[in-house]
Amino acid sequence: MSVGVAILGSTGSIGRSTLQVLARQRERFRVVALTGHSNADLLAEQEREWRPAFVGLVNGNGKGEAGRRKGTSCLVEAATHPDVKIVVNGIVGAAGLEATLAALRAGKRVALANKETLVMAGELVTAAAREGGGEIVPVDSEHSAVLQCVAGRRPTELARLILTASGGPFRTWGPERVSRATVAEALKHPTWTMGKKITVDSATLVNKALEVIEAHFLFALDYDHVDVVIHPQSIVHGFAEFVDGSVLAQMGFPTMELPILYALTYPDRVPDQGVRRFDPVAAGSLTFEAVQVDRFPAYVIGREAARVGGTAPARFNAANEVAVQLFLEEKIHFGRIAEVIERAVAEDTHSGGDANSLEDVLRADADARRLALEVACC
Ligand SMILES: NC(=O)c1ccc[n+]([C@@H]2O[C@H](COP(=O)([O-])OP(=O)(O)OC[C@H]3O[C@@H](n4cnc5c(N)ncnc54)[C@H](OP(=O)(O)O)[C@@H]3O)[C@@H](O)[C@H]2O)c1
Repeated sequence: MSVGVAILGSTGSIGRSTLQVLARQRERFRVVALTGHSNADLLAEQEREWRPAFVGLVNGNGKGEAGRRKGTSCLVEAATHPDVKIVVNGIVGAAGLEATLAALRAGKRVALANKETLVMAGELVTAAAREGGGEIVPVDSEHSAVLQCVAGRRPTELARLILTASGGPFRTWGPERVSRATVAEALKHPTWTMGKKITVDSATLVNKALEVIEAHFLFALDYDHVDVVIHPQSIVHGFAEFVDGSVLAQMGFPTMELPILYALTYPDRVPDQGVRRFDPVAAGSLTFEAVQVDRFPAYVIGREAARVGGTAPARFNAANEVAVQLFLEEKIHFGRIAEVIERAVAEDTHSGGDANSLEDVLRADADARRLALEVACC
């Protein structure tokens, strides 16, 4: 009997990669639910190919949508559909939170690409999994790498994680040039092809700050034991250091299809011919550098928000979402992304406030969005 899968954000980069994986694994999995936000045409194409029981379009309008669910509630409906065992959350940003919580409370596995969910409400999300019997399995390649290294080990054996970062397109640029970088330059990622928001987050290194917070919640390690190293080739995706000093790394040519497949089949591995086989000679020299924090101020702000805890990570995430959107709309320069985040986080009146209620988290999120807009526009 095949396993039912819901894909939230099926029209995005992660969603499309998931469908490519599923196309090779039709005996094991079937698509039960698909959701998109605005791309009605692609969603209709996917619907014709996969014939899912449920299709939802958040921002529904136009023709050819009879029978589709519309509005934000379609996300929770898809995530809790009775025939769904695994929910792949490929939504970008805070919009994915409610569906993650609902899926975990309903006892589903959430294959989580939507890292913003764990950043803004890590305590709530992990509690929902505990209470509902659901399970969070990371899709992010770095966290998938770590999971592959620690699978089968006791949590107490893990001493430290090292997440790798490509360094993005501006790794070798001077600060003056970076501050004036254009949208096209920020979207030219050296090793990965992804959606726009995460590509900009990779250029600011906010993505890595989000991933440090994600790792803290996934692997129950304090922040002093989650390190980051720049690795421009993106071949090693993560390291796990154990209490005896031994270190394991997971590697492969950059592709999201492998971490997606692993999140679907974990803890098992299944045969798959879809990804390029590893060749050490083709991979060439692998290099590692320390993060030059003066080049990536937003990364530093994110790590500090992590240390403060409570609702500070939610505020950091929300301010970043606003700043990135404004940058993509060419309303602010690249250099102002970090400034907007810093001021929106610094002007927090309930810094480190309680993050154990959804109300508090959503209030912090809304407050930081409002402040970020105010800061950006004056
Ligand atoms: N892409 C990668 O390789 C990669 C790797 C690791 C982690 N991630 C994480 O995965 C998530 C998705 O990234 P992506 O690169 O796939 O982004 P993307 O290509 O921009 O796709 C985003 C998806 O979310 C939908 N969406 C956008 N806003 C929404 C909203 N308010 N409510 C519901 N759905 C919404 C979009 O629908 P429409 O297209 O129909 O508008 C699309 O299906 C992010 O959290 C990212 O950090 C991505």
